[in-house]
Amino acid sequence: MKDDEKDIELKNVTVKIRKAIILQDINFYAQHGEILAIIGGSGAGKTTALRVLTAQIKPNEGEVYLAGYNVIKEKEKLEEIMGYVPQLEEVSAYPEFSALKNAYYFGKMYDLPKNQIETRARQILEILGFETEEMMKKPIRELSGGEKKRVSICIGLINNPKVLLLDEPTTGLDAHLRIEVLNYLRNLNKRLGVTICIVSHDLETADFCDRIVILDRGKVVVFGQPSEFLKDLPNNGRCVRVKFKFLTVEGQNKIEKIKSLKYVLNIGRNTLKIFPKTGKYNLGELIEELYAIGLEPSELTEVDANFSDYFRLLSQGAFGEKKDIFDVDFM
Ligand SMILES: Nc1ncnc2c1ncn2[C@@H]1O[C@H](COP(=O)(O)OP(=O)(O)O)[C@@H](O)[C@H]1O
Ligand SMILES: [Mg+2]
Repeated sequence: MKDDEKDIELKNVTVKIRKAIILQDINFYAQHGEILAIIGGSGAGKTTALRVLTAQIKPNEGEVYLAGYNVIKEKEKLEEIMGYVPQLEEVSAYPEFSALKNAYYFGKMYDLPKNQIETRARQILEILGFETEEMMKKPIRELSGGEKKRVSICIGLINNPKVLLLDEPTTGLDAHLRIEVLNYLRNLNKRLGVTICIVSHDLETADFCDRIVILDRGKVVVFGQPSEFLKDLPNNGRCVRVKFKFLTVEGQNKIEKIKSLKYVLNIGRNTLKIFPKTGKYNLGELIEELYAIGLEPSELTEVDANFSDYFRLLSQGAFGEKKDIFDVDFM
């Protein structure tokens, strides 16, 4: 066992399947009590990284640690320290059973006593927003997609693991449910002190996490703390969101030429985020500058940049070298 505070760690991990390199010299970690996101487009290597962490795949090179244990050499420890929530909740829960009965069924596999399983399941379900007896006791086939997902999270936590790993817990959910699941995971992390690893293809996940690693074609593109990345932006990411009734490409090109601005980012139809070169921006001056080039904003609001903004600027080459990153969803 390794004696440090890292609960999740991949060190120089390379995975080859036949001749293909699926992961190439990957390094990332999460400290105890953190939420880590592994983010990337389809085929980036996220599930493979998770399989390496759960000892389903032995890497060709490198070391892998979970809660301080070497998952290759001390594989037998995994059952005790790890919880896993697979991508499809259907494979992990019985539709005819209630949330409590599912928890009981899975808890039994860990030889836990019935009363202990029930106390724990109720505690977790309560944190997950299952407030009534009725919700905990109805067959989960009658629950909504978001509620079923929460039951599968409860099952993943039933053995009181130190580290909970989730493969795409927000995929297939509507935007508000994705945020709801991420908020519930944050609550579990705070209340139970469990270290969490979330695999996701949405960049928005980054804003809910302490640390993120972005994978692309088997390599690490970015690893670090989202809050630290935002400090690289002018004014620590404080910027102005400007909406127009109608904005053309030519209009945006003109705005990009305004000398007092450092970055101009299109974040949706007729909407920009504008990063001034220095300090707090004077909204009045900005409006004047826009009018001067013939553009009339319909709304200006001071807002904070999020990680998706940072990443878009990064991939456009705003901080130097242009990164050829493809297939990551911007949501
Ligand atoms: N068992 C396998 N045999 C061959 N190729 C595989 C295997 N598992 C994964 N791959 C390939 O490795 C790459 C990464 O896959 P995966 O880790 O599932 O990506 P992600 O979860 O990010 O979508 C993909 O190109 C995939 O086709
Ligand atoms: Mg996957």
